[in-house]
Amino acid sequence: VGQNLIRLSAVDSTNNFLKEMVSKSEPLPEGTVIMADNQFAGRGQQENTWHATAGLNLTFSIFFKPAFLPINKQFMLNIAVSIGVRKALQQIVPQGIKVKWPNDIYFGDRKLGGILIENTLSGNCYKSSIVGIGINVNQEEFNPDQVKRATSLCKILQADVNLIDLLGQICGSIEAEYFKLKSGNYTALLTEYLKGLYRFNEEAAYREGLIIFKGRIRDVTETGQLIIEVEGRNKSYNFKEIEFLNN
Ligand code: BTN
Repeated sequence: VGQNLIRLSAVDSTNNFLKEMVSKSEPLPEGTVIMADNQFAGRGQQENTWHATAGLNLTFSIFFKPAFLPINKQFMLNIAVSIGVRKALQQIVPQGIKVKWPNDIYFGDRKLGGILIENTLSGNCYKSSIVGIGINVNQEEFNPDQVKRATSLCKILQADVNLIDLLGQICGSIEAEYFKLKSGNYTALLTEYLKGLYRFNEEAAYREGLIIFKGRIRDVTETGQLIIEVEGRNKSYNFKEIEFLNN
């Protein structure tokens, strides 16, 4: 991952750019990385936008061809990538980096980064996966509606971090987890994911539609459902069905 690195000074979205490259005829090497110094129309999950101040943060996308991945284990790629990012960040911030289901990167109760994976299927196989990653690195100021919910590595460390070094660490770490995925070691990946999962086994408040309840996250399935124990019974939630509340 990252042997073939294309660095752009500005682009709307590295995911869009990479998707376009993949759709062009010549085959693109797996592990190709597109990074942008300035991504001016970054996309997040659930049609959110992803803001990154030019030159200060990491915004990049990786091209994978996980044709080996069974369709019913689709979430395992998210898991492998999340673990890879978390482990790389732990080398700089040893304590407190968590993955918030499905694949946000958290420090304490604040968001440090996010992952947006976009898959193309061909019949029953994964043809391509565009793994987009945004990490707040050297951004010190956040606008008022973000300031309570977001943080950055430089705010945590009180020091700047070299973007290219960090990119290299994250790519290496994701590659290691991707090889585990390829070898089919799903149980080990899932266990590792749960170990670093935000609010795992902790009592916390959630909202499902208009209903607010307390429960404990107990598991995540290979297809990506979150399992929360509520009043002694396990309930399964899809992304979009549930919102994490601040207690
Ligand atoms: C989220 O938290 O909702 C996911 C954010 C993903 C942002 C990254 S930045 C690089 C890549 N290009 C995009 O347009 N989005 C992803």
